[in-house]
Amino acid sequence: MTKPMRWITTLLLLGVVALAVFVAAVLYDLNRSIAPIDQADADPSAEALEEKIARGEYIAHVSDCVACHTVPGEAPFAGGYGLETPFGELFASNITPDDETGIGGWELADFDRALRHGQGSNGYLYPAMPYTAYARLSDQDVSDLWAYMQTIEPVEHEVNENQFPFPYNQRWLLAGWNLLFFHEEATANELAQSQDPVERGRYLVEGAGHCSACHSPKNALGANSGEPLSGATLQGWHAPDLTPNAHTGLGKWSSEQVVDYLKSGTNEFAVAAGPMREAVENSTQYMTDEDLSAIAAYLQSVPESSHTAPQPLDAGEAAMRQGASIYATQCSACHVSHGEGVRQMIPSLVGNSQVNAPDPASLLQVVLKGAEGPDTYANPTGAGMPAFDWKLSDEEVANVLTYVRNSWGNAAEPVTAAEVATERDARGARSALKASRE
Ligand code: HEC
Ligand code: HEC
Ligand code: HEC
Repeated sequence: MTKPMRWITTLLLLGVVALAVFVAAVLYDLNRSIAPIDQADADPSAEALEEKIARGEYIAHVSDCVACHTVPGEAPFAGGYGLETPFGELFASNITPDDETGIGGWELADFDRALRHGQGSNGYLYPAMPYTAYARLSDQDVSDLWAYMQTIEPVEHEVNENQFPFPYNQRWLLAGWNLLFFHEEATANELAQSQDPVERGRYLVEGAGHCSACHSPKNALGANSGEPLSGATLQGWHAPDLTPNAHTGLGKWSSEQVVDYLKSGTNEFAVAAGPMREAVENSTQYMTDEDLSAIAAYLQSVPESSHTAPQPLDAGEAAMRQGASIYATQCSACHVSHGEGVRQMIPSLVGNSQVNAPDPASLLQVVLKGAEGPDTYANPTGAGMPAFDWKLSDEEVANVLTYVRNSWGNAAEPVTAAEVATERDARGARSALKASRE
C-alpha cells in the first residue's frame, strides 16, 4: 500500500470503530437502569393520596405541561399540538393514561425516564420536550406529578410525534446531543422546598417553570448558550432579557411588579402577549404569591446581561419625524402622547424592556397582527391592541417603531422596512391597503 492509502484505511477504520462505540453507548444508555425514586409515601392513606394528587396538579401547572400537550379546545393532555422547530413541526405526545395511544401502561420509573432523562416510548425524546429543565425536578415532585397524571381522563388519540425529514427523524442522533448539552441534575427534596426565596426561585425558574426554554439564547442545535436568561427569539416572538439589566431587562421592575405581571398578565410596564400570554394563563397565574415572589427574588439575583444602550437616533432624522407623525395619529390615543400608556390596561412604551430589546420581533408581531392581553383570574378583561398590517406600509411600521425605540429615554437599533416586509410574510399578515388611507 502507498503511504496515502494506508492513511485513508487507518482513518476509515478509526471512523468505523468510533461509530461502533457510539452505537454501543446509545444501546447501553437506552437500557441502563435509572436509580429508583426514593418514595417515602409509596403507599399513602386515602387522605394523603388526595394531598399528593393536589400537589401534583400544582406541579403540572407550574411546569405548564398542558401548554404543549393539549390542542386548544380539545381534550387536555391528549397531545397532537405542533411545535415549530428549525427542523420542522414536532407533535407533542398523548400523555393521558390511555393504554393504546397514551402512557396507560407506564409506571413511575417510565415517567421519570421521560421527564428527567429524556427517553420516551420511541427512544430518545427531542429537547423541544423540556426535559433539560425538568431534569432538575425533585423526586418528591416527580412522584406527586405522577400521582396526578394517573387521575387524568384517558383519551384514545394516536399521535405521530416525529414527522421530521431524514436525517432529523433519527432519534438515536440525540444521544450525541445529550452528550454535548444535557446534564442530569435532580434537585434534592429539601432544596426544592427551600425557605430561602432565591433557592426556591432558582428551582422554579431553571427547573419546573423552564423559563430558560424561551428566555435564554440558543446555539444552532437549539441548546442554551451564551448569557442565561438574557433574551431570545422563538416562533417570531422575542422573549426579553429577565436579568437585572435596567435597559433591556427587569432592572426597573420591583419584586411586586414581577409578581403582578406573572399573576395577572399585566403591570404598569407590560401586557403579556403571544407565548407569554399562554404561559401566564396556563401556568404562572396558578402559582402561589410566595412562589411568585421567589421567582422575582431569583431573577434579581442572577448576573446582569451585557446588553448596552446604543446612542438614540436624533429626533430631527427623517425616519424619526415620519414616525412621530404616525405615532400622533395612530397610537397616541391609547399609548398617550409621551408613551406612558394607561396603568394595567395599555402598556407604557417608556423604559419598556421589550421596546429596548435588541430584536424587535415581538414589537413587529404586535403592531402588524395586534395582540390580546391575557384573561386571568386577577385581571379578567384583557385589553386589545389593534392590528395595523392593513393600515400601515412597511416603511411606516418601521418608522413608527424606530420613533418609539428612540424617544422618551428609549434607545435601540432602528427598524428597517425590509425587516417589516420579511416579518409580514413570515407571520402571514395582510398587505397594507394604501389607497384607503389617502
Ligand atoms: C414546550 C413543550 C412541552 C412541555 C411544556 C411539556 N412537553 Fe412533554 N413533550 C413535548 C413534545 C414535543 C414531546 C414529544 C417529543 C418526542 O417525541 O421526541 C413530549 C413528550 C413527552 C412524554 C413522552 C411520551 C412518550 O410516549 O414517549 C412525556 C411522558 C411527557 N412529554 C410529559 C410531559 C409532562 C408531564 C410535562 C409537564 C411537566 C410536559 N411533558 C411538558 C413537549 C412538551
Ligand atoms: C413559551 C415561551 C416562554 C416561557 C416558557 C416563558 N416566557 Fe416569559 N416571555 C415570553 C415572551 C415571548 C415574552 C414577550 C411577551 C410580550 O412581548 O408581550 C415574555 C415576557 C416575559 C416577561 C415580561 C418582560 C418584559 O420586559 O416585558 C416576564 C417578566 C417573563 N416573561 C417572565 C417569565 C418567567 C418568570 C418564566 C418562567 C416561569 C417565563 N417568562 C416563561 C416567552 C416565554
Ligand atoms: C386601541 C388602543 C391601542 C392603539 C391605537 C395602539 N395600541 Fe399598542 N397596545 C395596546 C394594548 C392594549 C397593548 C397590550 C397588548 C398585549 O400585549 O397583549 C399594546 C401593546 C403594544 C406594544 C407592545 C408592548 C410590550 O410591552 O410588549 C407596542 C410596541 C405597541 N403597542 C405599539 C403601538 C404602536 C406603535 C401603535 C400605533 C401604530 C399602537 N401601539 C396603537 C393598545 C393600543
